[in-house]
Amino acid sequence: MSQVIAITGKGGTGKTALAALLVRHLIKNRKSLLVIDADADTNLPGALGVTAEKTVGEMKEFMFEQRDKMSPDTDKERVLESKIYEVLTETKHYDLLVMGRPEGAGCYCFANNLLRGIMDRLIKNYDITIIDTAAGLEHLSRRLIRDVDTMVVVTDGSRRGLQTAERIRDLAGKLSLNVKRMYVAANKVTDENRETIKRYAAELKLELIGAIPFDAGLARLDMEGTPLVQLGDDSPAVKETGVIAKRIGL
Ligand SMILES: Nc1ncnc2c1ncn2[C@@H]1O[C@H](COP(=O)(O)OP(=O)(O)OP(=O)(O)O)[C@@H](O)[C@H]1O
Ligand SMILES: [Mg+2]
Repeated sequence: MSQVIAITGKGGTGKTALAALLVRHLIKNRKSLLVIDADADTNLPGALGVTAEKTVGEMKEFMFEQRDKMSPDTDKERVLESKIYEVLTETKHYDLLVMGRPEGAGCYCFANNLLRGIMDRLIKNYDITIIDTAAGLEHLSRRLIRDVDTMVVVTDGSRRGLQTAERIRDLAGKLSLNVKRMYVAANKVTDENRETIKRYAAELKLELIGAIPFDAGLARLDMEGTPLVQLGDDSPAVKETGVIAKRIGL
């Protein structure tokens, strides 16, 4: 059974950091893993210490340009599917797919419609898929990935972070996305904000799955541009990510 975990939340709360640390955790458990960077800003490869040459966005662009040039009998879905496999960056422990920049001005519904089926099939090839998303809810409404087992909404100590979590939950309901479970993970937690976050989460009836401490070592690596996967086992953020992974059932 393949399991899809999507990391969402307000900008700058630590989605990419949590995604990278979950990958760091999972590469030890020998399951096949697909990692998707669904943020146009594409920060996840850097956090993982991997470079990705091409993006899904470029392949959609290619389909957009070729659309009228292809003969009517061309199986366009197969063409795009083979392009998507070209884009996949294979590493020793996982495959990485970078979605890339958002579409230009044209109508990409055609490519997006093809892509939905392709993504469904691709994800089924792996035991676990981890998706790092962009802040904001736009990626949800495009519904390129329809079935999510666990959505983790990352929040920091701000009330707005939790309000975003509430909005994401409501939107997922409105769009009839197939999200089986939704949790909130608090990040950059300090002794000062720990209780407030717990209280806010309870008020909003959001299930708190973990509280990742503010981790000066993590912040330092990010500042230097060193991949976060290089954090040691003693890092507080690494330890709490292990707890979160266990609660998700990874
Ligand atoms: N637990 C933590 N302790 C200290 N700093 C952290 C922690 N988690 C994240 N940060 C820092 O917070 C900043 C934002 O983190 P990150 O890029 O992971 O957030 P994001 O939600 O992915 O942002 P965006 O919305 O831009 O994609 C980074 O500078 C990162 O180093
Ligand atoms: Mg990010």
